[in-house]
Amino acid sequence: MEAMIGNTKLLFIRGDITEQDTRAIVNAANSGLLGGGGVDGAIHRAGGPQILEECKQIRSTKGICPAGQAVITGAGRLKADYVIHTVGPIWSGGGGGEDELLRQAYANSLKLAVKNGVKTISFPSISTGAYRFPRDRAAAIAVKAVYEFVKESAAIDEVRFVLFNDDILKAFELAWEKLGCAGDSRDC
Ligand code: APR
Repeated sequence: MEAMIGNTKLLFIRGDITEQDTRAIVNAANSGLLGGGGVDGAIHRAGGPQILEECKQIRSTKGICPAGQAVITGAGRLKADYVIHTVGPIWSGGGGGEDELLRQAYANSLKLAVKNGVKTISFPSISTGAYRFPRDRAAAIAVKAVYEFVKESAAIDEVRFVLFNDDILKAFELAWEKLGCAGDSRDC
């Protein structure tokens, strides 16, 4: 499915984020920034050791990356030029500010993209794997966060949500429709 927010194209794709040719892809990292499983493992495996080397540099100069924040590195052997590593919240029932931290993870990734002149970006479904965030709730937060950022900033040309299976793809497409911007959101 695809939609428009102003002049920004929004795409909902079933696929593997490591194969995307957007200028940046977003990693669902952990605060340690030194790799892991899921998206994190896939990006480090496909991108090669250069990404981890840059992450180590960031760790040594800035320390850990708190939930909701994001850092940027090169992309090694990937088609993308950059990897934006963001840390989603670990779901602990919803009373610990998880919704706001997830929103921040998307918004801060977009801010970092714009700061680096990146106009096309791919997101995975942050926090919905090992971090156990409820899928439909995460999807609603994700599409709203991207919509709110992009409608204020003309700096992004394309945002892809790259979703690993049909269930999560459907959850994101439904979240977009519920946002009331189905199809062309120019009249949103
Ligand atoms: N491309 C796109 N999506 C993927 C891919 C991939 N190659 N691999 C996994 N996913 C999906 C998962 O199915 C899930 O829906 O990404 C979503 C996020 O899952 P995780 O990667 O587990 O990320 P998260 O829930 O944010 O947990 C982060 O897991 O991998 C570790 O180091 C990471 O500690 C961190 C934690």
